[in-house]
Amino acid sequence: MSMLDTLKDFSIVYSFDRSGYQRHARQFAPLEDSHLIGKRFLVTGGTSGIGAALAQRLAEAGSEVIVTGRSAERFEQSGLESLGVAFVPLDMADFKAVMQLNLPELDGLVCNAGGMTEQLQLVNNEYDVIFASQVIGHYLLMRRCMESGVLASGGSVHLTSSGGMYLKKLNLDDLCWQENRYDKVQSYANAKRAQVILNEELSRRYPDYVFSSSHPGWVGTQALRDALPGFTKRLSKRLRSDDEGADTIYWCLAQGEQLPSGQFWFDRQSRPLYPLPWTRETQTTRQRLMTLCATVWAEQLN
Ligand SMILES: NC(=O)c1ccc[n+]([C@@H]2O[C@H](COP(=O)([O-])OP(=O)(O)OC[C@H]3O[C@@H](n4cnc5c(N)ncnc54)[C@H](OP(=O)(O)O)[C@@H]3O)[C@@H](O)[C@H]2O)c1
Repeated sequence: MSMLDTLKDFSIVYSFDRSGYQRHARQFAPLEDSHLIGKRFLVTGGTSGIGAALAQRLAEAGSEVIVTGRSAERFEQSGLESLGVAFVPLDMADFKAVMQLNLPELDGLVCNAGGMTEQLQLVNNEYDVIFASQVIGHYLLMRRCMESGVLASGGSVHLTSSGGMYLKKLNLDDLCWQENRYDKVQSYANAKRAQVILNEELSRRYPDYVFSSSHPGWVGTQALRDALPGFTKRLSKRLRSDDEGADTIYWCLAQGEQLPSGQFWFDRQSRPLYPLPWTRETQTTRQRLMTLCATVWAEQLN
């Protein structure tokens, strides 16, 4: 990589934006994905944006794809049905629904549903809906898929995180925002930090599966437009397409069992989780996250 390219990567803007994707893509090796034919994937939040682009690419590669989301209308608008993609309604913040979801046999699970909720919404009076849906809901779904055996041994589990987590140290002290004023950006970054930690921890606890997590860069999707309208407007020409945002997730799935488990990826390269050393959580906080998720799991089983 040239000195100029290295500087562009450090700039963040010229890395997370479309020019960053295009520069990184020049180094991409040809992708062998013929083994995806006939595989079955479940993509949460697959009715629009990055998830829908991923579902489309998987379907076009010959995989069977099931997408979830809260709104059937969004699925209808996605045009995915014409590619044979199936839709299952699922709110990731509804833990009971996640636990009762009828699961077919799968080769991969992509935990992609997410976004920023404008107003504070509590789930069970314990967690705001961002943490509940993106962290706990996905934890329950991952465990169900693995422990019920519906996810084939060697199958892929992917979590779509965000570069926003780079700025955040995991904080589990006020997940229902009773002590602090609700801040959607902080909550989102915290949930995305929790996801990359889950990726590492679960990869150790479930060695039969291939875990990965990624951030897609800045992608001009509905979630970004709704959550950060000013940012979206300012960067409109620089934002990545949905396909570019989905590329690294697709690449991780296409690597199958060749992919080292538990790593964090951006533009098909493994990246560090803590470029800012003060964002590293303590081992105790990491354990608290795992205990918190496991406790909800145990409650749901009873
Ligand atoms: N766009 C970016 O620049 C960017 C950057 C970093 C990370 N990401 C991450 O990429 C993922 C996809 O987002 P996107 O940008 O593609 O946004 P999007 O187009 O709005 O897609 C979000 C998807 O998630 C679903 N969803 C949202 N909340 C849900 C919930 N509680 N339960 C079930 N489904 C839910 C949505 O469907 P319903 O609304 O119908 O439920 C939709 O299918 C998210 O995890 C997001 O945090 C995006």
